[in-house]
Amino acid sequence: MQSQFGNNVKVTIFGGSHEPEIGCIIEGLPAGVMSEIDMDELQAFLDRRAPGRNEFSTQRKESDVPLVRSEDPLTLVIRNKDQHPGDYKKLASVPRPGHADFTARVKYGGALEMSGGGPFSGRMTAPLCIAGGIAKQLLKKKGITVCARINAIHGICDIPLDPVNITAAVLEEIAAKDFPVFDDEAGMEMKDEIRTARAEGDSVGGIVEVYVLGCPAGVGGPMYDGVESAMAAVFFGIPAVKGVEFGAGFSAAFMRGSENNDPFCLRDGKVATMTNNCGGILGGITDGMPIIAQLAFKPTPSISIEQDSVDLDKMEPAKLVIGGRHDPCVVLRAVPVAEAAAALAILDLMSEENAHGKK
Ligand SMILES: Cc1cc2nc3c(=O)[nH]c(=O)nc-3n(C[C@H](O)[C@H](O)[C@H](O)COP(=O)(O)O)c2cc1C
Repeated sequence: MQSQFGNNVKVTIFGGSHEPEIGCIIEGLPAGVMSEIDMDELQAFLDRRAPGRNEFSTQRKESDVPLVRSEDPLTLVIRNKDQHPGDYKKLASVPRPGHADFTARVKYGGALEMSGGGPFSGRMTAPLCIAGGIAKQLLKKKGITVCARINAIHGICDIPLDPVNITAAVLEEIAAKDFPVFDDEAGMEMKDEIRTARAEGDSVGGIVEVYVLGCPAGVGGPMYDGVESAMAAVFFGIPAVKGVEFGAGFSAAFMRGSENNDPFCLRDGKVATMTNNCGGILGGITDGMPIIAQLAFKPTPSISIEQDSVDLDKMEPAKLVIGGRHDPCVVLRAVPVAEAAAALAILDLMSEENAHGKK
């Protein structure tokens, strides 16, 4: 199975978590672009997503080493090494609440290889990170920084960052941490929350906040060509994302216009805004301020507490206890994934500007 997004920089993600390999095809980049890519930096980026790195991620040992399979079309793959299909046999007839086992069976019958979650697996975010890691490096050369942090875990929040004056240096320092939060004390509380959920056989969710700094004003377009539309489409392709907001997002609905509007000002001879409730986007077009998005991740569906389900073969109620190896919280590993998604959406939109000769 494969899944595709992007208009000018097209990304196709293929394979499945328990197939021999997973990978991505990236179309629309200049020929020979890989000679510009620092492979050590790309590997370090993929390592931020990889499982088995710390106590909070599943102990599955997947070696996420990207191999360039072809330069035209640009195709990179990762060999899957740590497959345990047996962990998933029972789920074919008794679907996990909160996972895609039931809906996949309705849609595809038995035709889909669902071991390890198949194409619905968090593993599919590894090839997204290959493509996104490349996009991040290409954007960096244009002076654009894409960074994310954990903003909340199960209601425990990090300190809000200044949405107007935030710098790439601060964001890069946060992103380099093992647990990427600004306030390490809040980070300790978040870690305890994850430990407690795991000890109880349960899971927790949270919020990842993504920043794009240095994107010029004028990228995007109205309606379905907008920056929000493009970014949200890629964000919602990330498993377990259930909400996306830009800038003040849902809280804008609780404000008056006088509070929510971002007054214009002149800063270093350029038009800027004094606040950034719009998250750097007005009418689907960037205004030159930091682009800020928040992604809400639900708690990992596979928990070891007994749950109610249905045996679909016998059509009778069934109790389900899930074995196998699962993250008690996917948020930590999702931070680079959110960066990858944001970088690809912005690179795609900026390539459109180039295609139209606007930049
Ligand atoms: C990085 C990452 C790792 C994930 N790991 C797991 C996991 O170990 N177990 C699990 O049940 N779900 C995991 N998920 C979430 C499921 O893939 C996802 O909830 C499922 O496909 C259903 O899709 P939906 O939640 O978007 O509706 C992970 C998601 C991400 C982003």
